[in-house]
Amino acid sequence: MNKPKLEIKLSFIIGLKEITLNEISQYPNLHVTKKEEDFVYLDFIQDFSQLECLRSVLLVSITSQDFIYHPLYISNHKSIVGNLVAMIIKGKKNKFKTFKIICAGSDSPEVRSIAEYIQETYRLTEEEDADIKIHIIKNDNAWEVGVQIMPRPLSIRDYKVSNIGGAMNPTIAYAVNSLCKLENADSYLNIFSGSATLLIEAGLCYPNLKRLVGFDNDKEMLSLAIQNIREAGLIKRIKLKEKNIFNKPNLGKFDVITSDLPFGMLVSKYEDIENLYRCFIEYCQEILNYGGTLVIYTSQHEILKKIILKSEFKVVKKLKLKFATSTNTYLYPKIFVCKFKKNGTKSF
Ligand SMILES: C[S@@+](CC[C@H](N)C(=O)[O-])C[C@H]1O[C@@H](n2cnc3c(N)ncnc32)[C@H](O)[C@@H]1O
Repeated sequence: MNKPKLEIKLSFIIGLKEITLNEISQYPNLHVTKKEEDFVYLDFIQDFSQLECLRSVLLVSITSQDFIYHPLYISNHKSIVGNLVAMIIKGKKNKFKTFKIICAGSDSPEVRSIAEYIQETYRLTEEEDADIKIHIIKNDNAWEVGVQIMPRPLSIRDYKVSNIGGAMNPTIAYAVNSLCKLENADSYLNIFSGSATLLIEAGLCYPNLKRLVGFDNDKEMLSLAIQNIREAGLIKRIKLKEKNIFNKPNLGKFDVITSDLPFGMLVSKYEDIENLYRCFIEYCQEILNYGGTLVIYTSQHEILKKIILKSEFKVVKKLKLKFATSTNTYLYPKIFVCKFKKNGTKSF
């Protein structure tokens, strides 16, 4: 048997490929070998610590591909998957206690014999919600065997005190912020800050930002946001306010504004979404510095597009995303990067 060729597979939300490729390009020793719509492959590297820092990536796996790696072959050459598991748990045995195999026909005798081998060899228990996720899947022209390098997806951040419905996926927050040219900005406002995902990702990635401000009109959200901000070690840098957009709060002017707009059920029945979006755009016109950048994330893009068209803003870039929710329905949100139509000389 030839020695399996190993690769690193990074998965991300559909629509964020350019963001992930840009992030990878900041690490000179990460080499992309293949790009698909929602994952890329890299040349294998021994040290996973850099991979664990990637902020636009959902999952990282070590993989090996060959057209002969179907479950029957793997059940006769169990060390192929065993060596991947050994690599992941090396020196971290206390982090990994359980495993599961994701494979069509997971009850078949072949897959069961692989599971028994993993259980006995590495003293791991098979469980649905497992620390080690092993996959054996058929790609276009080959079978792929892979193991995720961490028990939790990379997108689950340590600063999240609790996971609430409506909170933004942190990889999307990273993407929104990376479209703002924050390295050249001093001040950052997040309107409709919710649990503060955008503010925290901005604070962690851009330590030079001088003024980080957010507001929301929901007390419970603000209290959860403060807990998250404290957990992230940013309590001294991020200022949160309880404000309603309809009152157009006076907070000064900003180089960058970001927003994950309320939508559907998340808007109170007393608020009309179109009015809310119009008020939001009018307010941004008043408080964004000339040359500044406004980046908006929303699933209700048709309403927003109409309002932007009639405003002082133009859309200079758009990203179309697609992902499944926890109830397995698909969302098709968009990110809009906006500038003033008549721009000043300074560009943030
Ligand atoms: C989609 S959520 C933002 C989620 C946030 N990005 C996060 O990661 O948690 C929209 C937020 O807008 C807030 N909101 C709705 N109407 C508002 C209004 N009139 N003024 C201020 N905030 C409002 C809601 O309380 C909610 O937290």
